[in-house]
Amino acid sequence: MRILLLSALVAHASATRLLDNNLVYRSPFLKDISLAHDTPAIQARHIQHVRRQMSDAAPFDDQHYPTFYGADFGNSPFIWTGGINFTHSVASGDPFDTSVLLWTRAVPVSPSGTTQLPDQSVPVCVAYKISTSPTLEGRIVDSGQAFTSYDVDFTVKVEASGLKPDTEYHFQFSDCSSPSSVSPIGKTRTIPNPNTPANQVNNGHPLTLAVFSCSQFQAGWFNAYGFAAHNTSAQFFVHLGDYIYESLGNGAAIGRQTLGRELATIHDYRQRLNQYRTDASLVFAHQNAPWITVCAGFDDHEVADNAWKAGTADSNDTTVGCSFSASGACFTDRKLAAVRAYHEWMPIRQVDADDKFRIWRNFQMGKLLDLTMLDTRQYDRDLTDVYYNTGMSVPVSGPILSIRILCYTEFVNTIADFSNRSLMGTAQEKWFFDTLSESRARGAVWRVVGQQIVFTQLNESGSFDLDAWDGYRANRLRVLDHLYSNSIQNTVILAGDSHANWVSDLAHPNDSTTYNPITGEGAIGVEFAGTAVTSGSSFGGNIQPAAADAMSRVLVDSQTNLNLQWSEGSYRGFFTLTIDPHTMKATYYGMRNITFANLDGFATAEFEVKSGANKLTRPVGGGVGAIKAGALKSNGTQ
Ligand SMILES: *[C@@H]1O[C@H](CO)[C@@H](O)[C@H](O)[C@H]1NC(C)=O
Ligand SMILES: *[C@@H]1O[C@H](CO)[C@@H](O)[C@H](O)[C@H]1NC(C)=O
Ligand SMILES: *[C@@H]1O[C@H](CO)[C@@H](O)[C@H](O)[C@H]1NC(C)=O
Ligand SMILES: *[C@@H]1O[C@H](CO)[C@@H](O)[C@H](O)[C@H]1NC(C)=O
Ligand SMILES: *[C@@H]1O[C@H](CO)[C@@H](O)[C@H](O)[C@H]1NC(C)=O
Ligand SMILES: *[C@@H]1O[C@H](CO)[C@@H](O)[C@H](O)[C@H]1NC(C)=O
Ligand SMILES: *[C@@H]1O[C@H](CO)[C@@H](O)[C@H](O)[C@H]1NC(C)=O
Repeated sequence: MRILLLSALVAHASATRLLDNNLVYRSPFLKDISLAHDTPAIQARHIQHVRRQMSDAAPFDDQHYPTFYGADFGNSPFIWTGGINFTHSVASGDPFDTSVLLWTRAVPVSPSGTTQLPDQSVPVCVAYKISTSPTLEGRIVDSGQAFTSYDVDFTVKVEASGLKPDTEYHFQFSDCSSPSSVSPIGKTRTIPNPNTPANQVNNGHPLTLAVFSCSQFQAGWFNAYGFAAHNTSAQFFVHLGDYIYESLGNGAAIGRQTLGRELATIHDYRQRLNQYRTDASLVFAHQNAPWITVCAGFDDHEVADNAWKAGTADSNDTTVGCSFSASGACFTDRKLAAVRAYHEWMPIRQVDADDKFRIWRNFQMGKLLDLTMLDTRQYDRDLTDVYYNTGMSVPVSGPILSIRILCYTEFVNTIADFSNRSLMGTAQEKWFFDTLSESRARGAVWRVVGQQIVFTQLNESGSFDLDAWDGYRANRLRVLDHLYSNSIQNTVILAGDSHANWVSDLAHPNDSTTYNPITGEGAIGVEFAGTAVTSGSSFGGNIQPAAADAMSRVLVDSQTNLNLQWSEGSYRGFFTLTIDPHTMKATYYGMRNITFANLDGFATAEFEVKSGANKLTRPVGGGVGAIKAGALKSNGTQ
């Protein structure tokens, strides 16, 4: 009795603790209750239900609810006890040096032998534990419980804390009411402490990141994720955007027909994420490594095509009011539905509860590197080349990028040079520059910048992609000036979005005075831009290697593509970065066939950057004999 009273007192202070342990209820933004979930209200709803069910409920006042069953969840009428299905395995992400987010989905199952809907009026309770032991038989480093419910699509996101830096962990969820009912075991990792010397990170072994972008379900099987997880030693999975696509497409021919419709409502976004996360390669990749994503993998397609801060190609909310898209939603409604569903399904942290759409953040991985994740899409971007201002109609099918490349417009081209035009918004831009400077000041060897769109000037068959940094030239100039004028060395920019591979020295466009494209002298860093996991090539859908290489040859030889050193446009795939204090190695992988599930990939090319060199090592890619696809500048002779 005494013990019960005591715990009841504790519970009084944190009556909704088990709901609040599930960070999804607090997403996307805790401080704005219209956007987060009102957990006291959900708790009250559950209690009302229990009151109705129990004749002797009178003695229990609402505050006693979470402690009534204490740690004994068996036979409790307050939680679901009819069995849980961990429908989408487990995932982890946003690792810090002493904590990491763990994710699962815990769906109540129908009573056996029936198709009867499970009772959804009580919460589902899951327990979690984390250990360095692969079988979880060793010491449990952290454990706890959390509730989930239909309000959050039965997703669960908890923060495991008290972990050791730079250490591999294993974790598992179970059913509180039936502890032998467990999820698969997941593998994750913390990042090094910011002060760990560069040569001691990962016990003196290189750190490896796998970098992805543009994974469209209907365009192919996500073999690249599986290959990275099974066949490389990548420890962190970085996604640069277009993790899902809003369009329906038609993947029936390869068994990849998307469900639902063009995304507009919360249901639509949940259903799409649910379906994407059934791909075995993606499931395996989430289960076996922590993910770090650009705004939870937000490029434009997670919200809608070519998004900017108040509109998209398909709909736009302006001062004159909302224009409804074909799927019946205003842009701001879609954006909120998209962000909410992402926070449910992705192991991503809220960065700043007061700053609604802020997702940019920095990971200090010892003194080896800073991984700085930017949002060059959703946060506060100025008008992009949305099709209505280019005079083009919205493409209804086909690879959007190749149409976009042809969308060269006088209007956007003119404003591209305005210095008051910004890709990131002033707050983020200032934060970005400060982060670069601080990274240098704290003595980190490398600065790796994860962002969505291609940075280097690219004249693609006579036009520039104005939806990339080529549409924001003054902003790009400011980034380069910041690096040059502060002598910030060893900066490596990553990009996705373009559905093709581009490797470049970082230098001012058209500046053959300071920069020598043959030797790389005068550059201030490098850019590694990677192709899509599945989305169609910007060189043309299903283009064959020989035809793509011929186009790449023209592009790398073009005078306007001074900084571009390697181009490849046929293979779908990803790349890895293998990082130690002396060298960064980028290995590009191509997947041989994405029309069915397989792990058949190969390294198309490998590039090296030496610390302090600020350019690709010559001969680039080891020379023409060493690369297996694409084209090198000067035919790889230098
Ligand atoms: C569990 O979920 C998976 C994936 O949705 C489904 O295939 C399976 O039939 C479910 N199992 C039960 C017992 O409901
Ligand atoms: C978006 O707004 C512009 C400018 O008012 C208008 O011309 C265009 O038709 C709108 N687009 C849609 C899809 O409503
Ligand atoms: C941005 O700069 C351009 C060119 O200097 C100018 O015409 C325009 O009015 C400016 N826009 C704003 C919002 O200040
Ligand atoms: C872009 O490259 C093409 C060749 O592919 C060339 O004809 C064109 O002049 C270049 N455009 C500019 C603006 O330099
Ligand atoms: C570089 O030169 C080409 C013409 O050769 C021009 O179209 C392009 O705008 C220039 N880029 C910059 C950033 O000035
Ligand atoms: C990919 O696999 C499919 C199914 O086996 C086959 O029909 C197709 O020819 C393959 N494509 C390539 C490029 O090998
Ligand atoms: C990748 O790993 C899988 C599983 O270990 C193996 O079956 C497959 O052959 C490997 N693929 C390549 C190209 O080595």
